[in-house]
Amino acid sequence: MPTLNSNSNSNPNSLWWRDGVIYQIYPRSLADSNGDGVGDLPGLIGKLDYLASLGVDALWLSPINKSPMRDFGYDVSDYEDIAPVFGSRADFDTLIAEAHRRGLKIVMDLVLNHTSDEHSWFRESRSSHSNPKADWYIWRDPAPGGNAPKPPNNWASVFGGSAWEWDETRGQFYHHMFLKEQPDLNWRNAEARAALMNTAKFWLERGVDGFRLDVVNAYFKDALFRDNPASFSLDPRAALPWFRQRHLHDYDQPDLHSVYRELRQLLDARPERGLIGEIFMTEDPRVFARYLGDDQLHLVYDPAFAAQPWLPRSFQRIVAEREAALGADAWPCYCLSNHDWPRHVTRHGGGPFAAARSKVAAAMLLTLRGTPLLYMGEEIAMPSPNLARHELIDPPSKRFWPFYNRDCARTPMQWDESLNAGFTTGKPWLPVGASHKKINVAAQTDDPNSVLNFYRALIQLRKASPALRRGSYRPLIERPVAAMTYLRETDSQTMLVALNFFGHDVTVPMPPGQWACRLSTHAAEHAPGETLTLAPFEASIFERR
Ligand code: BGC
Ligand code: MG
Repeated sequence: MPTLNSNSNSNPNSLWWRDGVIYQIYPRSLADSNGDGVGDLPGLIGKLDYLASLGVDALWLSPINKSPMRDFGYDVSDYEDIAPVFGSRADFDTLIAEAHRRGLKIVMDLVLNHTSDEHSWFRESRSSHSNPKADWYIWRDPAPGGNAPKPPNNWASVFGGSAWEWDETRGQFYHHMFLKEQPDLNWRNAEARAALMNTAKFWLERGVDGFRLDVVNAYFKDALFRDNPASFSLDPRAALPWFRQRHLHDYDQPDLHSVYRELRQLLDARPERGLIGEIFMTEDPRVFARYLGDDQLHLVYDPAFAAQPWLPRSFQRIVAEREAALGADAWPCYCLSNHDWPRHVTRHGGGPFAAARSKVAAAMLLTLRGTPLLYMGEEIAMPSPNLARHELIDPPSKRFWPFYNRDCARTPMQWDESLNAGFTTGKPWLPVGASHKKINVAAQTDDPNSVLNFYRALIQLRKASPALRRGSYRPLIERPVAAMTYLRETDSQTMLVALNFFGHDVTVPMPPGQWACRLSTHAAEHAPGETLTLAPFEASIFERR
């Protein structure tokens, strides 16, 4: 059966990236071991027992490479080193060994679309037209006309303004899709490409189990540098030039496949490695399908859920689109939150029902057909605090306040009710959410009804159930209004998932058969007949007897 994205070096019956649960760590905010207020690798190592106790299979670490931290690590100044604030390469080796000892895989975030402007490659590249790395970045002459140098085309930066920055020394513009301190690499240059491939090889040799490739569909830009056509949008973000263009020429270019194939070969030379690509600014899953497959990416990191309102029909539509586009030969991957969006607990409304809602969301994420990706802290329904404007430090969050906020997704993990939530003995780099007094790991550990223990139970159930891991998906309500129900089926097992998104009872039809409840947010014993009445915010999972 599963030729699906496996290779001769892997055990097709259990592939961590396909059968497991992946947990994203934002290393700055997990645990600080040395009191400098910033989370670090020794701090993370100290939490491995906790992470293993969740039952997750792999840890994806947001970037830990050396970086001036303009984009908090997504601006790398040395691919082969660890940022001193996080620790040393020896700490990383210890992390790998200690994680593997506990059966946890380590997935590294590789940011290969751009570097920091402080990377020695860029320093060299900008120094003259004739240096050996002159062509490692995307340099262009100004467009003709005008008094001041005019950008070569209309491409925009995601973080505002033009994507072109003037450089006096070279008398040319360089391209940056993100901050101007993040110049884009020129993947069309064979030496640059080889150097980037070597970074992947370097970390594979150090024992990492896979990569999350940052903005992996942006590596190539149009070779002719044609303007993007304008587009009309009612999206409030259309205040930015980026959102007023159709991005025909600055990402999703056909040249990408050869890179994915080459990276995949590197990974396939070793057992059980996984390649997860962040497909950026592309909502059409048919595009994902082009990048997935036996010789390309294993998974597309798909943040679509993070943009959905709390309505069952929104999530069901996203799932339906992926089921249709990916078919049986590719595998979806879902997440509710990450370091780029306010946390879902807050997005979905917060308030007194936040914990109840977050259990429903978790039950959905962990029972769908597709790899679940959890974001650190969601297992305790950690909310995003309301940060004051002066507390923001992320450049785009500062620039686009109050419309965009990434800092509120990145505040320290809430371990206990003490002053800094058990995160640090120093001054935390971002404020600790006031909610930590009530919402923290310590308080939830011994509470059988906590969100934390519900996550653990869901993960165990998924592990034990072939249908939840691998089975087909079939929605039972065509146009869901308040509740979402679906079947997950293999030849030997049928599971039914019933989720009530709202604070009132909902009655849903049941398919024929005898159903035994395997896990529920509500203690009451269900004996569903032709219908099932779900209590407010009830999530229940049944198995056909
Ligand atoms: C990461 C962001 C980062 C950007 C540029 C993204 O998709 O998730 O945090 O700012 O890539 O590297
Ligand atoms: Mg520290």
